[in-house]
Amino acid sequence: MNVLVVGNGGREHAILLALRKSKRVEKLYCMKGNAGTAEIAENVDVDYMNVEAVKDYVSAHPEIDYYVVAPDDPLAIGLVDELEAMGKRCFGPRKNAAIIEASKAFAKELMKKYKIPTAESETFEDYSKALEYIRKKGAPLVLKADGLALGKGVLICETIEQAEEGLKEIMLDKAFGAAGNKIVIEELMRGLRYTPGEEVSVLAFTDGKTIIPMITSCDHKRSGDGDKGLNTGGMGTFSPCPFWNEKLEKQVLKTIMIPTMKAMNAEGRTFKGCLYFGLMRTDKGMKVVEYNSRFGDPETQVVLPMLKTDLMDIFEAVTEGKLSDIKIEWEEGACVCVVLASGGYPVSYVKGKEITIGETGNAQIVHAGTAVKDGRLVTAGGRVLGVVAKGKDIEEARLKAYSAVENINWENMHYRKDIGVKYREG
Ligand code: AMP
Ligand code: GLY
Repeated sequence: MNVLVVGNGGREHAILLALRKSKRVEKLYCMKGNAGTAEIAENVDVDYMNVEAVKDYVSAHPEIDYYVVAPDDPLAIGLVDELEAMGKRCFGPRKNAAIIEASKAFAKELMKKYKIPTAESETFEDYSKALEYIRKKGAPLVLKADGLALGKGVLICETIEQAEEGLKEIMLDKAFGAAGNKIVIEELMRGLRYTPGEEVSVLAFTDGKTIIPMITSCDHKRSGDGDKGLNTGGMGTFSPCPFWNEKLEKQVLKTIMIPTMKAMNAEGRTFKGCLYFGLMRTDKGMKVVEYNSRFGDPETQVVLPMLKTDLMDIFEAVTEGKLSDIKIEWEEGACVCVVLASGGYPVSYVKGKEITIGETGNAQIVHAGTAVKDGRLVTAGGRVLGVVAKGKDIEEARLKAYSAVENINWENMHYRKDIGVKYREG
């Protein structure tokens, strides 16, 4: 089979690396890809948000048998629907199901209606009503722009002043554009050990009838060590989550994952693809922080390397509604991904810096924002590389990853030194 993956980042490179191991995959393509994907796939220089341009490319390439739509924005505009309408087979939810990520107001409404545990919240389209609610509730509060905002549309507000300022930014100044036409205002969830609580990302394959969780992972969203600094797309991940166990998985399947799958069916929005559950262990049990309609980035970088089953077999089983026929197996041990970012990310940074990569042992270098310019490997984004290593436990994996990081460099390279240290006590 010839398979095209839509997307440019580390997640897409990680998906391609897993597909390359499939006995059934012949040729890989990536739209548009980066310098890393170019090593194992043919990069296709088409803007995937331009539906007409994608359709032209697809019509001209009947030799491609299967499409994987990985990022949130093409899913939200219905790229899968367009490809299916052309008779193509795809991995990824249709537009009416991708809304579970594209609208936080929708997701909260769904959880309320089907009694899926999550933070209490109200949704507002009117600034003055939202302001009144904030003043009535008092701090702390969490404000969320309704739409997609590159993972930046969430503000944790410790004081009323911060909440009022945040509300103004989202609804009046439109800091996140049209994503802020609606706002979700939530209670701040408290954890068993910390506030906010301990988080875990659980990605799951689902064909709408069966839902199978993958191994768990934990992200580090803040830019600096000790979870200080601004929110980013994710500065590193490790797998598995130390507080996860079989009993918890059973309970989460019963109270959150299966009810979500069934709720989407009941709404006429069957979700097929990878459904991402951002969960928090709170003082009142496991609750949903967010849903994503896709693989996480950089969660995928630590989850897929541990997959023993052929990923292409799983993708096709999802497409064909036969996921219950497949047994999905994982390696024992742990995996860590340290993200190397451009200095200044997530605010402003310079691209085009030459990257040097020395001896990295058996760490896997996953490319996110890279390009080749005049024959040299250069930075081309905020998050540039993910350094991924496996070990018998998280400690061994993190030591391997960090020893590889020592031999990678460019001007102003920035990374966190504490990936995998979080929740070390379990
Ligand atoms: P999201 O983009 O929805 O994942 O939110 C970004 C981050 O904000 C999450 O990973 C949590 O760390 C935090 N967060 C979001 N909602 C809440 C909440 N209701 N209580 C505590 N922390 C939250
Ligand atoms: N790492 C979080 C996300 O993919 O949204």
